[in-house]
Amino acid sequence: MSKVGIFGAGWVGLVTGACFAELGHDVVIRDVVPEKIEGLRRGSVPFHEQDIPALLERNASRLTYTLDVNDVAGCQFLFVCVDTPPTYSGDADLSRVWTVIDELPELDGTPILVMKSTVPVGTGEKVRAGLDQRGLDHVGYASNPEFLAEGRAVQDFMNPDRIVVGAFDPDDADAVAGLYSAIDAPFVRSDVNSAEMIKLAANAFLMTRISFINEIANVCEATGADVVKVAEGIGLDKRLGPHFLRAGIGYGGSCFPKDSLALKQLASNSGYHFQLLSAVIEVNELQKRRVIGKLKRHLGPLRGKTVALLGLAFKANTDDMREAPSIVLASRLLAEGAEVRAWDPVADGSKLPKGVDVVGSVADAVRGADAAVIVTEWDELKGLATEEIRASMANPLIVDGRNLLDPEETRRAGFAYDGIGRPTSPGDVLPQAPEPQRVQEV
Ligand SMILES: NC(=O)c1ccc[n+]([C@@H]2O[C@H](COP(=O)([O-])OP(=O)(O)OC[C@H]3O[C@@H](n4cnc5c(N)ncnc54)[C@H](O)[C@@H]3O)[C@@H](O)[C@H]2O)c1
Repeated sequence: MSKVGIFGAGWVGLVTGACFAELGHDVVIRDVVPEKIEGLRRGSVPFHEQDIPALLERNASRLTYTLDVNDVAGCQFLFVCVDTPPTYSGDADLSRVWTVIDELPELDGTPILVMKSTVPVGTGEKVRAGLDQRGLDHVGYASNPEFLAEGRAVQDFMNPDRIVVGAFDPDDADAVAGLYSAIDAPFVRSDVNSAEMIKLAANAFLMTRISFINEIANVCEATGADVVKVAEGIGLDKRLGPHFLRAGIGYGGSCFPKDSLALKQLASNSGYHFQLLSAVIEVNELQKRRVIGKLKRHLGPLRGKTVALLGLAFKANTDDMREAPSIVLASRLLAEGAEVRAWDPVADGSKLPKGVDVVGSVADAVRGADAAVIVTEWDELKGLATEEIRASMANPLIVDGRNLLDPEETRRAGFAYDGIGRPTSPGDVLPQAPEPQRVQEV
């Protein structure tokens, strides 16, 4: 078994550390945020991810948390799992990666630095040169991108579709592969540049599927087809498969938006205009805003109307609100003059713009509301269309941004229902309420 150091106690770092500990390795996790490290030492996980608390507890004897970079000195592997957020220009911000390289302590033996953070193609070559410049030419380098999805991160790590390792030296690739020997998955070995590109291209392809089905949904709305049926019919084609064909209000999260920008920018910096990816990004931006058009179609001007946003996390089973569509929706609704209430079972509503009333239950969110918008596909919302909820709303309208509910059942329960890419029925468009009286401002 090996000794593994991890830089970053975020989603990727903590999941990687916990899973390697589960596989029997000794793991040291280093972060720079004292509250995170102190919390982890006390057994408190800094984010919501099922399976992680139990995994950390079960493997506590093989896990150490530290702020001190010297504690990773004896590790054979040093995994870089720090965040690589977008800069103003859309390029990935690699400053945290460089801080890790700059702060590396004296390292004995022949440890390997393994890049798990998502980085632009060419980063490995620059890091290799940086290590050499620091006199760390005895330190190996490998790119080992991570493909886990939040909400099912442990499952994804332990049962990956593939493990990708790109290295300059085949021995380093072998050593990294050895860490995963207990995991049964196809192994893709490549050069470092290709490993970096595999991660960016995989994400770009997934986003392309999402924007594609969202555009099909928009055409379905204009023509009377039902995108849920269409996706089922498409997905059964073995050449296409069923994944990522769920129409909705667009992708968000800490990866897709930033990785698409980073790839677009990477191409553009190299003199290539990535037209398809530009369209994918634009479609996604417009998709988040389509809910506003739907609400206006049902309610008329939104000034003075109360809208409940149900679900704030960018997807279910996580509390991650980075680039969540809920933030864009809340801002647009406030700009239209609507009163906005918001609820989520785990996400922190204080990340929404000021002026949103964050409440503790679905019932509080929809009471007296003119519309309820399903923003995140939480299981808790599957039973939304009840008599009690209908009676408590000023207008029983549900805009289902995730196609979570059955349209017919919802309508039978007395609601007007508007999903994404689903046919509307004539009864769905409510008579427009009169404009609220303008209050004289002094
Ligand atoms: N979250 C995902 O679903 C996911 C999936 C695949 C890949 N990735 C990629 O993995 C990387 C990490 O993502 P994340 O979601 O875990 O980020 P995160 O923001 O949740 O965690 C990053 C952690 O790194 C810490 N950190 C910053 N500088 C440090 C330093 N010098 N030393 C030690 N720790 C440091 C931060 O304090 C933070 O705790 C990103 O490049 C991301 O694109 C993320």
